[in-house]
Amino acid sequence: MRTELVDLCRQLRLAHVVDHVALQQDEQVKSIVEQLLTAELDGRRRAKLGKLVQQAGFPHIKTFEGYVFDHISFPGGSSHEIIRELEWLERKENLLLMGAVGTGKTHMATALGVEACRRGKTVQFYRASDLVAVLQEKFASGVISRFREKLKKADLFILDEVGYVPFSQTGSELLFNVIADCYERQSVIVTSNLEFGQWTSVFGDTKLTSALVDRLVHHAHILSFTGESFRFKQAMDRIPM
Ligand SMILES: Nc1ncnc2c1ncn2[C@@H]1O[C@H](COP(=O)(O)OP(=O)(O)O)[C@@H](O)[C@H]1O
Ligand SMILES: [Mg+2]
Repeated sequence: MRTELVDLCRQLRLAHVVDHVALQQDEQVKSIVEQLLTAELDGRRRAKLGKLVQQAGFPHIKTFEGYVFDHISFPGGSSHEIIRELEWLERKENLLLMGAVGTGKTHMATALGVEACRRGKTVQFYRASDLVAVLQEKFASGVISRFREKLKKADLFILDEVGYVPFSQTGSELLFNVIADCYERQSVIVTSNLEFGQWTSVFGDTKLTSALVDRLVHHAHILSFTGESFRFKQAMDRIPM
């Protein structure tokens, strides 16, 4: 029997079909079976990807198609190709995307998240202020543990826009606990417009902020987004000269 057919049956877990196909001598029949099984496998993969992307909660679906990497500086020895390979995700390392507003941080975080889904990984995407609001609500209604358990199940946790909105003391503590849960267990992508030195203005407490930054930067790749705002550039391009 052709290896492709055996492999297809294995991937689709069709233990009994394998035996039938093995007895089949007609090449034309084998070719039709192969086409059918390929269609089934593609369909299942698409459905799984759709489910993972939906569960992730991305605000918009973004991919790397047409994405420009010119104004992003990667840490020594790294590159956009290496980051896109997602080996850091297998090693449970973090990515910190730092830079001014409109420079492509959310786009990249989302595109990496979609790529992770494509590889069968579970992703959770939250804008930091939204997550803090949810954490406070869960805390108030006594179901915070259950919610933290749900977050722990993701392979990749994306925390977008740390820096725009300062958090209350409870909010900061709840968010700290989520980051602490992730430490060395799951990969985290954080995007921020603020350098770490300014994070105390968001989290309030100096000790909590340094403990949080400490956990995030240990085993992390820090990418600097140095370009000008794409939103601004796109808006300027629309103005007739
Ligand atoms: N490097 C890039 N290549 C192509 N489009 C980009 C790039 N960076 C940003 N954009 C587009 O510009 C807009 C702003 O990007 P976004 O990721 O939201 O910025 P940030 O999160 O840094 O504020 C989005 O519509 C995004 O798709
Ligand atoms: Mg953003």
